[in-house]
Amino acid sequence: MKNQLTIALSKGRILDETLPLLKAAGIEPAEDLKKSRKLIIPTHHPHVNLLIVRTTDVPTYVEYGAADAGVSGKDVLLEHGAHGLYEPLDLKIARCRLMTAGPVDERPQFGRRRVATKFVNIAKRFYAAQGQQAEIIKLYGSMELAPLVGLADEIVDVVDTGNTLRANGLAPRELIAHVSARLIINKAAMKIKHQLLQTLIQDLESAVNKQE
Ligand code: ADP
Ligand code: PRP
Ligand code: MG
Repeated sequence: MKNQLTIALSKGRILDETLPLLKAAGIEPAEDLKKSRKLIIPTHHPHVNLLIVRTTDVPTYVEYGAADAGVSGKDVLLEHGAHGLYEPLDLKIARCRLMTAGPVDERPQFGRRRVATKFVNIAKRFYAAQGQQAEIIKLYGSMELAPLVGLADEIVDVVDTGNTLRANGLAPRELIAHVSARLIINKAAMKIKHQLLQTLIQDLESAVNKQE
């Protein structure tokens, strides 16, 4: 429907920081997201519904137009690719860095190295650009474990405080990208629902500027 907006969000750290921005844009969930088991959440805004999806699925929902807009980490966007999407606004929340990391007391492996990560595409591009040979091993979490048990020489993961690396005897090595959460918009929806989406972008932009 032309006068209805659907926004895809993921639970977890991005949600906590996104809700105050949405509130400033006049969008408040009509149910407690922490308690509700519903996946389509109405809001007090007459034209907006929220979808609750997995972090890595947000770009997929928006790409196919199942959601008009979404909030996604730049890491997820770099991994997924940006076909069919606009990325009009940096929300400047959930900030971290995509990095390589390895054991504190070891130098990077000479020659071909084994790299564990959930960011397979990002890792392949990064090592290729460095002229480094790498065998990428796909994991779905707890990447920091891989070098400790001989599964990999190095990992690619997001780092914030560095506490998780330190707690596991690892140290950051190379910076791949700075990461923060982005507002993403389906390209076709941007044409069809221009007025609603333009207002959303503007309202979120002023909320982001106030938050700084
Ligand atoms: P997941 O369950 O997929 O790991 P998270 O809620 O942990 O989801 O992370 C969502 C997004 O927040 C990530 O895609 C990334 O952009 C960012 N992020 C992840 N870990 C951190 C962190 N430790 N500090 C800040 N931002 C983070
Ligand atoms: C993320 C990331 C790192 C950690 C980095 O994990 O995968 O393990 O945070 O943050 P730090 O540098 O401040 O320690 P998260 O807490 O999201 O756990 P999960 O994704 O494995 O559930
Ligand atoms: Mg996480």
